[in-house]
Amino acid sequence: MTTDDIEIANIEIDLLLEAIYKRYGYDFRSYSRSSLERRLTQFLIDKQCGSYSEVINRLLRDRSFFYELITYFSISVTALFRDPFFYSALRDKVLPFLKTWPYFKIWHAGCATGEEAYSMAILLNDEQLLNRAMLYATDISQSALTIGKTGVYPLETIKMGSINYLKSGGSASLSHYYHANYGNAAIKPYLKKSITFSLHNLVTDKSFGEMQMIVCRNVLIYFNDQLKEQVLQLFWESLEYGGFLCLGDTESLMFSSVADKFITVDEHAKIYKKKI
Ligand SMILES: C[S@@+](CC[C@H](N)C(=O)[O-])C[C@H]1O[C@@H](n2cnc3c(N)ncnc32)[C@H](O)[C@@H]1O
Repeated sequence: MTTDDIEIANIEIDLLLEAIYKRYGYDFRSYSRSSLERRLTQFLIDKQCGSYSEVINRLLRDRSFFYELITYFSISVTALFRDPFFYSALRDKVLPFLKTWPYFKIWHAGCATGEEAYSMAILLNDEQLLNRAMLYATDISQSALTIGKTGVYPLETIKMGSINYLKSGGSASLSHYYHANYGNAAIKPYLKKSITFSLHNLVTDKSFGEMQMIVCRNVLIYFNDQLKEQVLQLFWESLEYGGFLCLGDTESLMFSSVADKFITVDEHAKIYKKKI
Protein backbone atom coordinates (compact mmCIF):
# COMPACT_ATOMS: atom_id res chain seq x y z
CA MET A 1 0.00 0.00 0.00
CA THR A 2 1.32 3.48 -0.88
CA THR A 3 1.03 6.38 1.58
CA ASP A 4 -1.71 7.77 -0.68
CA ASP A 5 -3.68 4.50 -0.40
CA ILE A 6 -3.36 4.59 3.38
CA GLU A 7 -4.48 8.21 3.54
CA ILE A 8 -7.49 7.52 1.31
CA ALA A 9 -8.47 4.40 3.33
CA ASN A 10 -8.27 6.48 6.54
CA ILE A 11 -10.56 9.16 5.08
CA GLU A 12 -13.02 6.49 3.93
CA ILE A 13 -13.08 4.87 7.38
CA ASP A 14 -13.71 8.31 8.95
CA LEU A 15 -16.62 8.82 6.55
CA LEU A 16 -17.99 5.36 7.26
CA LEU A 17 -17.92 5.91 11.05
CA GLU A 18 -19.47 9.35 10.59
CA ALA A 19 -22.22 7.84 8.40
CA ILE A 20 -23.01 5.22 11.07
CA TYR A 21 -23.17 7.91 13.76
CA LYS A 22 -25.36 10.28 11.74
CA ARG A 23 -27.72 7.59 10.44
CA TYR A 24 -28.00 5.26 13.44
CA GLY A 25 -26.59 7.15 16.47
CA TYR A 26 -23.95 4.50 17.23
CA ASP A 27 -20.63 6.21 17.87
CA PHE A 28 -17.59 4.10 16.98
CA ARG A 29 -15.46 7.13 16.08
CA SER A 30 -13.32 6.80 19.21
CA TYR A 31 -12.78 3.06 19.08
CA SER A 32 -9.23 1.83 18.71
CA ARG A 33 -8.46 2.25 15.02
CA SER A 34 -6.33 -0.85 14.48
CA SER A 35 -8.99 -3.16 15.88
CA LEU A 36 -11.75 -1.46 13.80
CA GLU A 37 -9.67 -1.74 10.62
CA ARG A 38 -9.13 -5.48 11.16
CA ARG A 39 -12.88 -5.97 11.67
CA LEU A 40 -13.76 -3.89 8.62
CA THR A 41 -11.32 -5.77 6.41
CA GLN A 42 -12.95 -9.05 7.47
CA PHE A 43 -16.42 -7.57 6.84
CA LEU A 44 -15.41 -6.46 3.32
CA ILE A 45 -14.16 -9.99 2.55
CA ASP A 46 -17.20 -11.77 4.03
CA LYS A 47 -19.70 -9.46 2.29
CA GLN A 48 -17.69 -9.34 -0.93
CA CYS A 49 -17.64 -5.56 -0.93
CA GLY A 50 -14.95 -3.97 -3.10
CA SER A 51 -14.55 -0.73 -1.13
CA TYR A 52 -15.48 1.19 1.99
CA SER A 53 -17.59 3.50 -0.19
CA GLU A 54 -19.72 0.53 -1.20
CA VAL A 55 -20.21 -0.36 2.48
CA ILE A 56 -21.24 3.24 3.25
CA ASN A 57 -23.70 3.26 0.39
CA ARG A 58 -25.34 0.01 1.53
CA LEU A 59 -25.42 0.66 5.25
CA LEU A 60 -27.05 4.07 4.80
CA ARG A 61 -29.98 2.42 3.00
CA ASP A 62 -30.13 -1.02 4.60
CA ARG A 63 -30.58 -1.20 8.38
CA SER A 64 -30.06 -4.95 8.53
CA PHE A 65 -26.73 -4.54 6.70
CA PHE A 66 -25.73 -2.02 9.38
CA TYR A 67 -26.70 -4.44 12.18
CA GLU A 68 -24.57 -7.11 10.53
CA LEU A 69 -21.66 -4.69 10.47
CA ILE A 70 -21.90 -3.84 14.16
CA THR A 71 -21.76 -7.50 15.11
CA TYR A 72 -18.23 -7.33 13.67
CA PHE A 73 -17.44 -4.31 15.87
CA SER A 74 -18.83 -5.74 19.10
CA ILE A 75 -16.71 -8.76 19.83
CA SER A 76 -18.66 -10.69 22.43
CA VAL A 77 -16.09 -13.31 23.39
CA THR A 78 -16.74 -14.24 27.01
CA ALA A 79 -16.99 -17.25 29.32
CA LEU A 80 -18.29 -18.39 32.68
CA PHE A 81 -15.65 -17.72 35.34
CA ARG A 82 -13.29 -16.27 32.71
CA ASP A 83 -9.96 -15.61 34.48
CA PRO A 84 -10.62 -17.66 37.66
CA PHE A 85 -7.98 -15.62 39.56
CA PHE A 86 -10.31 -12.61 39.21
CA TYR A 87 -13.17 -14.43 40.94
CA SER A 88 -10.89 -15.80 43.64
CA ALA A 89 -9.63 -12.23 44.30
CA LEU A 90 -13.28 -11.12 44.55
CA ARG A 91 -13.98 -13.87 47.10
CA ASP A 92 -10.97 -12.95 49.23
CA LYS A 93 -10.77 -9.19 48.91
CA VAL A 94 -14.15 -7.77 47.92
CA LEU A 95 -16.87 -10.02 49.34
CA PRO A 96 -15.76 -9.34 52.94
CA PHE A 97 -16.69 -5.65 52.29
CA LEU A 98 -19.94 -6.50 50.50
CA LYS A 99 -20.93 -8.61 53.51
CA THR A 100 -20.97 -5.46 55.63
CA TRP A 101 -23.57 -3.82 53.34
CA PRO A 102 -27.27 -4.63 53.78
CA TYR A 103 -27.89 -4.22 50.07
CA PHE A 104 -25.72 -3.55 47.02
CA LYS A 105 -25.90 -2.97 43.26
CA ILE A 106 -23.44 -4.34 40.70
CA TRP A 107 -23.21 -3.13 37.11
CA HIS A 108 -21.67 -5.39 34.45
CA ALA A 109 -20.92 -2.94 31.63
CA GLY A 110 -20.23 -4.71 28.33
CA CYS A 111 -21.64 -8.02 29.61
CA ALA A 112 -21.81 -9.65 26.15
CA THR A 113 -23.88 -12.85 26.37
CA GLY A 114 -24.20 -12.74 30.14
CA GLU A 115 -21.73 -15.36 31.41
CA GLU A 116 -19.81 -12.79 33.48
CA ALA A 117 -22.98 -11.65 35.31
CA TYR A 118 -24.08 -15.27 35.91
CA SER A 119 -20.61 -16.04 37.31
CA MET A 120 -21.06 -13.14 39.73
CA ALA A 121 -24.54 -14.34 40.73
CA ILE A 122 -23.15 -17.84 41.39
CA LEU A 123 -20.28 -16.44 43.45
CA LEU A 124 -22.69 -14.35 45.51
CA ASN A 125 -25.01 -17.30 45.98
CA ASP A 126 -22.09 -19.43 47.24
CA GLU A 127 -21.47 -16.78 49.88
CA GLN A 128 -25.17 -16.35 50.77
CA LEU A 129 -25.11 -12.80 49.43
CA LEU A 130 -27.30 -13.10 46.36
CA ASN A 131 -30.48 -12.02 48.16
CA ARG A 132 -28.85 -8.66 48.98
CA ALA A 133 -27.68 -7.98 45.42
CA MET A 134 -29.16 -6.31 42.35
CA LEU A 135 -27.18 -7.08 39.21
CA TYR A 136 -27.44 -4.99 36.05
CA ALA A 137 -25.91 -6.35 32.86
CA THR A 138 -25.64 -3.99 29.89
CA ASP A 139 -24.23 -4.05 26.38
CA ILE A 140 -24.67 -2.37 22.99
CA SER A 141 -25.35 -5.67 21.29
CA GLN A 142 -29.04 -6.61 21.35
CA SER A 143 -28.30 -10.10 20.04
CA ALA A 144 -25.79 -10.74 22.85
CA LEU A 145 -28.30 -9.46 25.45
CA THR A 146 -31.00 -11.75 24.10
CA ILE A 147 -28.74 -14.76 24.72
CA GLY A 148 -27.93 -13.42 28.19
CA LYS A 149 -31.60 -13.01 29.08
CA THR A 150 -32.37 -16.53 27.84
CA GLY A 151 -29.51 -17.96 29.93
CA VAL A 152 -29.07 -21.05 27.79
CA TYR A 153 -25.54 -22.07 26.78
CA PRO A 154 -24.10 -25.09 24.97
CA LEU A 155 -22.98 -27.73 27.50
CA GLU A 156 -19.66 -27.84 25.63
CA THR A 157 -18.80 -24.31 26.77
CA ILE A 158 -20.01 -25.01 30.31
CA LYS A 159 -17.28 -27.66 30.75
CA MET A 160 -14.54 -25.03 30.84
CA GLY A 161 -16.75 -22.92 33.11
CA SER A 162 -16.93 -25.83 35.58
CA ILE A 163 -13.14 -26.16 35.66
CA ASN A 164 -12.70 -22.42 36.13
CA TYR A 165 -15.39 -22.27 38.79
CA LEU A 166 -13.46 -24.82 40.88
CA LYS A 167 -10.17 -22.99 40.21
CA SER A 168 -11.78 -19.79 41.48
CA GLY A 169 -12.54 -21.48 44.81
CA GLY A 170 -16.11 -22.56 44.02
CA SER A 171 -17.48 -24.79 46.74
CA ALA A 172 -20.30 -26.64 44.95
CA SER A 173 -20.40 -28.17 41.49
CA LEU A 174 -21.35 -25.76 38.72
CA SER A 175 -24.06 -28.26 37.67
CA HIS A 176 -25.88 -27.16 40.81
CA TYR A 177 -26.68 -23.92 38.96
CA TYR A 178 -28.15 -25.15 35.67
CA HIS A 179 -30.45 -27.78 34.20
CA ALA A 180 -28.92 -29.85 31.41
CA ASN A 181 -31.22 -30.36 28.48
CA TYR A 182 -30.48 -31.69 24.96
CA GLY A 183 -26.85 -30.58 24.91
CA ASN A 184 -27.61 -27.23 26.50
CA ALA A 185 -27.34 -25.84 29.99
CA ALA A 186 -30.23 -23.66 31.15
CA ILE A 187 -29.30 -21.37 34.04
CA LYS A 188 -31.69 -21.86 36.96
CA PRO A 189 -34.51 -19.28 37.15
CA TYR A 190 -33.58 -17.84 40.57
CA LEU A 191 -30.16 -16.80 39.16
CA LYS A 192 -31.77 -15.32 36.06
CA LYS A 193 -34.17 -13.33 38.21
CA SER A 194 -31.27 -11.65 40.02
CA ILE A 195 -30.01 -9.97 36.81
CA THR A 196 -31.59 -7.19 34.75
CA PHE A 197 -30.26 -7.12 31.18
CA SER A 198 -30.54 -3.92 29.18
CA LEU A 199 -29.15 -1.95 26.28
CA HIS A 200 -26.64 0.72 27.29
CA ASN A 201 -23.97 2.39 25.21
CA LEU A 202 -20.92 3.44 27.22
CA VAL A 203 -20.01 6.03 24.59
CA THR A 204 -23.26 7.92 24.33
CA ASP A 205 -25.42 6.99 27.33
CA LYS A 206 -25.29 8.49 30.81
CA SER A 207 -24.61 6.92 34.21
CA PHE A 208 -26.58 3.84 35.08
CA GLY A 209 -27.26 4.99 38.65
CA GLU A 210 -25.17 4.75 41.82
CA MET A 211 -23.43 1.40 42.13
CA GLN A 212 -21.44 -0.36 44.83
CA MET A 213 -19.46 -2.29 42.21
CA ILE A 214 -18.83 -1.89 38.48
CA VAL A 215 -17.38 -4.72 36.43
CA CYS A 216 -16.20 -3.69 32.97
CA ARG A 217 -13.81 -6.33 31.75
CA ASN A 218 -12.32 -6.57 28.26
CA VAL A 219 -14.28 -3.63 26.84
CA LEU A 220 -11.91 -0.64 27.26
CA ILE A 221 -9.34 -2.42 25.07
CA TYR A 222 -11.52 -1.54 22.08
CA PHE A 223 -11.52 2.20 22.87
CA ASN A 224 -8.91 4.86 22.13
CA ASP A 225 -7.24 6.69 25.05
CA GLN A 226 -9.64 9.63 25.00
CA LEU A 227 -12.71 7.39 25.10
CA LYS A 228 -11.17 5.24 27.86
CA GLU A 229 -10.79 8.42 29.94
CA GLN A 230 -14.40 9.42 29.31
CA VAL A 231 -15.70 5.98 30.32
CA LEU A 232 -13.48 5.73 33.41
CA GLN A 233 -14.81 9.13 34.49
CA LEU A 234 -18.37 7.81 33.99
CA PHE A 235 -17.53 4.82 36.21
CA TRP A 236 -16.02 7.06 38.90
CA GLU A 237 -19.20 9.18 38.91
CA SER A 238 -21.40 6.06 39.01
CA LEU A 239 -19.66 4.48 42.01
CA GLU A 240 -20.46 5.08 45.63
CA TYR A 241 -17.44 6.14 47.75
CA GLY A 242 -15.77 2.90 48.85
CA GLY A 243 -17.27 1.06 45.84
CA PHE A 244 -15.25 -1.28 43.62
CA LEU A 245 -14.21 -1.05 39.97
CA CYS A 246 -13.08 -4.20 38.16
CA LEU A 247 -11.31 -4.08 34.79
CA GLY A 248 -10.00 -6.73 32.40
CA ASP A 249 -6.72 -8.54 32.54
CA THR A 250 -4.91 -6.23 30.11
CA GLU A 251 -6.66 -3.04 31.23
CA SER A 252 -5.56 -0.75 34.03
CA LEU A 253 -6.24 2.51 35.80
CA MET A 254 -2.55 3.32 35.58
CA PHE A 255 -1.88 6.51 33.57
CA SER A 256 -5.56 7.48 33.69
CA SER A 257 -6.68 10.78 35.19
CA VAL A 258 -8.87 8.97 37.77
CA ALA A 259 -6.00 6.74 38.97
CA ASP A 260 -5.39 8.82 42.10
CA LYS A 261 -9.08 8.67 43.01
CA PHE A 262 -8.88 4.90 43.55
CA ILE A 263 -6.93 2.55 45.81
CA THR A 264 -5.57 -0.61 44.18
CA VAL A 265 -7.12 -3.66 45.83
CA ASP A 266 -5.47 -6.22 43.54
CA GLU A 267 -3.29 -5.11 40.59
CA HIS A 268 -3.17 -8.58 38.99
CA ALA A 269 -6.97 -8.98 39.09
CA LYS A 270 -7.41 -5.26 38.24
CA ILE A 271 -9.68 -4.50 41.18
CA TYR A 272 -9.80 -0.93 42.49
CA LYS A 273 -11.71 0.84 45.29
CA LYS A 274 -13.03 4.38 45.01
CA LYS A 275 -11.33 6.57 47.62
CA ILE A 276 -13.54 7.97 50.36
C1 LIG B 1 -15.03 -9.02 24.68
S1 LIG B 1 -16.64 -8.69 25.26
C2 LIG B 1 -16.38 -8.70 27.03
C3 LIG B 1 -17.42 -9.51 27.74
C4 LIG B 1 -17.19 -9.68 29.24
N1 LIG B 1 -17.15 -8.41 29.91
C5 LIG B 1 -15.95 -10.47 29.51
O1 LIG B 1 -14.92 -9.91 29.89
O2 LIG B 1 -15.99 -11.70 29.33
C6 LIG B 1 -16.82 -6.94 24.91
C7 LIG B 1 -18.26 -6.49 24.96
O3 LIG B 1 -18.28 -5.07 25.01
C8 LIG B 1 -19.40 -4.63 24.30
N2 LIG B 1 -19.24 -3.22 23.92
C9 LIG B 1 -18.46 -2.69 22.96
N3 LIG B 1 -18.65 -1.36 22.88
C10 LIG B 1 -19.57 -1.04 23.84
C11 LIG B 1 -20.18 0.17 24.24
N4 LIG B 1 -19.90 1.31 23.64
N5 LIG B 1 -21.08 0.14 25.25
C12 LIG B 1 -21.40 -1.05 25.86
N6 LIG B 1 -20.86 -2.23 25.51
C13 LIG B 1 -19.95 -2.24 24.52
C14 LIG B 1 -19.45 -5.56 23.09
O4 LIG B 1 -20.72 -5.57 22.47
C15 LIG B 1 -19.06 -6.90 23.73
O5 LIG B 1 -20.20 -7.63 24.09
